[in-house]
Amino acid sequence: MKLNTQLLTFVTLSLLHRIASAFVHPIGIHGRFFIDTVTREPFYIKGVDYQPGGSSAVSDQGDPLSNPATCARDIVLFQELGINTIRVYSINPDLNHDVCMTMLASAGIYLVLDVNSPLPGQHLNRYEPWTTYNEAYLEHVFKVVEQFSSYNNTLGFFAGNEIVNDKKSARNSPVFIKRLVADMKTYISVHSNRFVPVGYSAADDLQYRISLSKYLECSDGSINDAVDFYGVNSYQWCGEQTFYTSGYDVLVRDYEEYIRPVFFSEYGCNQISPRLFEEVGTIYSTDMIGVFSGGLVYEFSEEPNNYGLVEIAADGNIRLLVDFENLKAQYAAVDLPTGKQIADLYNRDGNKKKLGAQAIPECELEYQSLDVSKVVDDDVASDLIKNGVDIKLGKYVTLYDDDLLSPYNISNSDGTPLKTDYYVKITHPIDQISEYEALRLSQIQNGGSK
Ligand SMILES: *[C@@H]1O[C@H](CO)[C@@H](O)[C@H](O)[C@H]1NC(C)=O
Ligand SMILES: *[C@@H]1O[C@H](CO)[C@@H](O)[C@H](O)[C@H]1NC(C)=O
Repeated sequence: MKLNTQLLTFVTLSLLHRIASAFVHPIGIHGRFFIDTVTREPFYIKGVDYQPGGSSAVSDQGDPLSNPATCARDIVLFQELGINTIRVYSINPDLNHDVCMTMLASAGIYLVLDVNSPLPGQHLNRYEPWTTYNEAYLEHVFKVVEQFSSYNNTLGFFAGNEIVNDKKSARNSPVFIKRLVADMKTYISVHSNRFVPVGYSAADDLQYRISLSKYLECSDGSINDAVDFYGVNSYQWCGEQTFYTSGYDVLVRDYEEYIRPVFFSEYGCNQISPRLFEEVGTIYSTDMIGVFSGGLVYEFSEEPNNYGLVEIAADGNIRLLVDFENLKAQYAAVDLPTGKQIADLYNRDGNKKKLGAQAIPECELEYQSLDVSKVVDDDVASDLIKNGVDIKLGKYVTLYDDDLLSPYNISNSDGTPLKTDYYVKITHPIDQISEYEALRLSQIQNGGSK
């Protein structure tokens, strides 16, 4: 009896503590800025792209967010790098992602998630998209959307990555990308209890850069088919450069009029090694923060194309590369911009009106280098949107010390251990009594009253 009362007091106190604490706030969009929907401050992305094992590492058995042990190991390193966002390229919605997503949320880290996968039937064929835009494909997409919309730390979804990347794809796929954006947005508005932004991640090809961004920004008014954000994959800052010699000045000029947030969905040229990441200082400087909302370095793990920050051994232990240490130093020197700084910047430039939300432009009939005249059967998604898809909703769960401890070792690039133990630090406790805790509490209360 006595013990139960003590336990009850302990559990009640710890629950109260949890509810009163900071939790990860959903991110929304105001005009050309991401904003924290609770504080209304602008949100700048400081992150990395994350797909250990490359695009093929998604299957019936696993994906980057299905294994709590590797998530704990890598989130320890995300915290070491001081990032607030990761991008994941493919997941399997039939697997359980609750522990990894709860750990990310508890560490204050957001996810931008691509909805496609390299598995058959789970992506658009860029040359013949009409052969792949069918119910089975959309069911996969909506399962991803439905499951991840219910995590507050899902920042947004990418409808596609570099689908337009040559003449033939520019002729055939733009209208299908736009249709997918529209179908995802409709699905979210019908089935999700909050707004989750939908965007696109573009290859930085000078031929399509402006026209594709403009085409995806517009709407014909009858459906909601405009992107909520635009990601640019850019590898043009190599070695020692400046805002001007890198061509970032041109990028800023090209997107100056964009009405939605723009950010680097991939960056980090590897022609000169180790990478110094000196572009980080510029990305978060007043040269860029009025137009770009930060970015994601490509990529966390070393894969055959040599863009890694860390090397993951076959036994799961990690060795940091010098690139990791260089990026960590650059990210540590960044002060993320505040709302006041942005307002001052726009006031100084006399561009005050661009701070607010602007009307979505109407679509043009033609866009340079793109064919936007193709017609998509607008019925493909309608049954799925009406009936919903059958998938387990994402849910935050109780974390135990065991979940938070990486079972793998991590060493610095010189081989010395990074630390003595590898715990994920909880900085943003989840503000929700999980079912498990509620059950435990009611059992203790019942036991105590007998
Ligand atoms: C991690 O390092 C410790 C101490 O050197 C060692 O005992 C342990 O077996 C290592 N763990 C792994 C997974 O290699
Ligand atoms: C998600 O965010 C909403 C809005 O800020 C908040 O009311 C809710 O408690 C959050 N849910 C969790 C599980 O953190």
